[in-house]
Amino acid sequence: MQIVIQPNADAVAEYGADQFSRLLNKKPDAVLGLATGSTPVALYQKLIARYQAGELSFAKATSFNLDEYLGLSPEHPQSYRYFMQQQLFGLIDIAPERTHVPPGDAPDPIAACHDYEAAIEAAGGIDLQLLGIGRNGHIGFNEPSSGLRSRTRVKTLTQATIDDNARFFTEGEYQPHLSITMGIGTILDARKVLLLATGETKADAVKAMVEGPLSAACPASALQLHQHAVVVLDEAAASKL
Ligand code: GLP
Repeated sequence: MQIVIQPNADAVAEYGADQFSRLLNKKPDAVLGLATGSTPVALYQKLIARYQAGELSFAKATSFNLDEYLGLSPEHPQSYRYFMQQQLFGLIDIAPERTHVPPGDAPDPIAACHDYEAAIEAAGGIDLQLLGIGRNGHIGFNEPSSGLRSRTRVKTLTQATIDDNARFFTEGEYQPHLSITMGIGTILDARKVLLLATGETKADAVKAMVEGPLSAACPASALQLHQHAVVVLDEAAASKL
């Protein structure tokens, strides 16, 4: 696990954007693993700016997102598909049919999980998987106690994650308690993994991921097993290392 400490969140996003730019310039048809949450937004803004400046194209790329709320349609403003459309896909030249987000409205979610795994495999596997980290050490929606070799499946969210993500929902709005998420095994299959964490609230989870034991109690610690895992932190997120 390579640890990169940057002075601030903007430098973390810049470092992450450089990783994607380098990959796409070398391999225009790369398979990108993408993430939601507030952390990747600054990185996406930098990718959009580089696309607008003519420095970067996604025209031949394919993408797979980590996770989605189960029970929300792609048009729902709280869905991760909607988030990706607003924050990235709608603002770059990626082909819509090559963007994949687990279907939150699938009539048969278990079959949809198998299909998602098959689609990743058919695309040749993920070249670069972007990750954030939850305060409880989750990656994607792989909550503590997730199997370290798990594949894409339906997962129940913990109360801690529901509470953390409540800020995105208005009061009284339906907030799902279930998700479809790539498994930890699925994430570990990516050829390279790039985890970004910023802010003091992530410092404990970062310490457990980097210095703690390899344990399902901290799903992100599974990255210790990956040969090409890069963890990019600002000074606040790195403050307990
Ligand atoms: C959600 C997502 C994760 C993300 C986490 C942290 O639960 N499923 O993929 O890493 O939130 O989000 P944030 O970056 O907003 O702290």
